[in-house]
Amino acid sequence: MKFFVDSADIKEIRDLAETGLVDGVTTNPSLVAKSGRKFLDVVKEICQVVPGPVSAEVTATDFPTMLKEGQKLAGLAPNIAVKVPLTWDGLKTCRALSSADAKVNVTLCFSAPQALLAAKAGATFISPFVGRHDDIGQDGMALIADIVAIYRNYPALTTEVLVASVRHPIHVVQAAKLGAHVCTLPPNVLRQLANHPLTDKGLDAFLADWKKTGQSIL
Ligand code: E4P
Repeated sequence: MKFFVDSADIKEIRDLAETGLVDGVTTNPSLVAKSGRKFLDVVKEICQVVPGPVSAEVTATDFPTMLKEGQKLAGLAPNIAVKVPLTWDGLKTCRALSSADAKVNVTLCFSAPQALLAAKAGATFISPFVGRHDDIGQDGMALIADIVAIYRNYPALTTEVLVASVRHPIHVVQAAKLGAHVCTLPPNVLRQLANHPLTDKGLDAFLADWKKTGQSIL
């Protein structure tokens, strides 16, 4: 499973990318606003730090303007994935950009039929939002199960399932068990993946015993 960082915070992205475990980045207008940076500057910088796909979202809602914005974003760096919302204009934009060989991430997906449309429109990634589903008392992971199962029935579809709006490591485990291709994780959730209290406790005990030996490896 690929791990993307869901953030526009360049310091966090740089820090996590140094682990060599970051396969890409997703941003959205809210994350860019939170960063306090200029959108195009921050996206270009992220593209230099992470070689994998970096999602940058259009903000127009009509097809002609979305397409122009998407073309501009796609021209910023070879690893840009243009993010478009799952609307009819967004799907048209996806089709036009993917036909011109740009990577496209179709975002704000909340149903299986929406995911089917995005795949037919040539999306590189479909982003179903699990956490926001859970927030309204629905089962976000059931949506991932449906989309993964549907896409598997049609091997010609190459769209990757990018699990978004991830809130905790259990979402990641469930998504991996279902065979989703990518999880995009807020930095704190990505860090949480490595944590376990028994790891900390075990390491403390090993180090205490090692100290008693008076030895050193180097
Ligand atoms: C995905 O690309 C989105 O940026 C993100 O996962 C949304 O998550 P949220 O529901 O926590 O805002």
